[in-house]
Amino acid sequence: MPIQRRTILKSTDRKGIHLQLQSATPQPSFWKRPPGYLLVTAIGVCGVVGWLYFNFDSEITETLVRQDEVVQQPKIFTVQCSEDYDNYKRYPGCTPQTCGRAVTDGVVTHEEALVLQRLAERGLSLAGSDGGASILDLHSGALSMGKQFVNIYRYFGEQIKDVFSEDDFQLYRAVRARIQGVIAETFGLDPSRMYLTKPTFFSRINGSVARTTHDEYWHPHIDKVTYGSFDYTSLLYLSDYGRDFGGGRFVFMDADGNRTVEPRAGRVSFFSSGSENLHRVEKVGWGTRFAITVSFTCDQAHAIADPSLP
Ligand SMILES: *[C@@H]1O[C@H](CO)[C@@H](O)[C@H](O)[C@H]1NC(C)=O
Ligand SMILES: *[C@@H]1O[C@H](CO)[C@@H](O)[C@H](O)[C@H]1NC(C)=O
Repeated sequence: MPIQRRTILKSTDRKGIHLQLQSATPQPSFWKRPPGYLLVTAIGVCGVVGWLYFNFDSEITETLVRQDEVVQQPKIFTVQCSEDYDNYKRYPGCTPQTCGRAVTDGVVTHEEALVLQRLAERGLSLAGSDGGASILDLHSGALSMGKQFVNIYRYFGEQIKDVFSEDDFQLYRAVRARIQGVIAETFGLDPSRMYLTKPTFFSRINGSVARTTHDEYWHPHIDKVTYGSFDYTSLLYLSDYGRDFGGGRFVFMDADGNRTVEPRAGRVSFFSSGSENLHRVEKVGWGTRFAITVSFTCDQAHAIADPSLP
């Protein structure tokens, strides 16, 4: 028996040695074989692409809400109020006490957003800017046309009823009221003390080159500085970042970095309008971006009525 065992061990040993020898026989180096080259090249290409990608996006410090995220309850980001509000009369129950920004997908459904997008498409197809950015203001009737604006209600008269229905206006009013509600709830306001103000409008942006300053939507700005009456600004997105268009993200430009919100159809993004929320919109690279800007004031003197068919 001991002999047999030894034999087995010996044969195993031999096999081991044999295998070792085989693996030690000279082989083409890993780096000289084609797969080696390919691997190194692939890693190199990935590195360059990754570096470019990062540098393209290096201006963005943080994405507050991604397009593919769904936030049913407002996602709230508090920021310290600027002194802008000190320059205006304060209205209890409305003037911002706490400032910040919030995003919610739970106020307007995707379906409603698409109905509003079609409404925007129909309205804007009546004219539109020569440059990449057109607006349609249902309240005043202002519609971009070439390098100027026309009043759709005067210009198209009764014909406008073929473009917009009473249902469209009802949906628009309902959505406006819900947005007002969520802003009031989030900022702890009395919704009856906040008023819709102008400009409140639909926007359509694509990658065409700007023709006039009206087309230059990408400049950083502060709503309360641009329009003194603004206290809260909201944006209702009607199309999807990365699917319907590229670029066009909303960017809060904070002292310590840029924070984006990626548009999603039905998403409402809202914020206090002062310098604490300096922002810009990235240039749209491809596709078409639709949104509605809905603005609120605390000063009843600047209130505007909901739009209605003439
Ligand atoms: C924020 O964006 C602006 C303009 O897009 C850019 O000049 C600035 O460097 C960015 N800030 C940071 C911290 O990346
Ligand atoms: C942008 O939209 C306008 C109006 O529909 C159109 O004439 C123009 O060709 C579009 N530009 C691009 C780059 O798609």
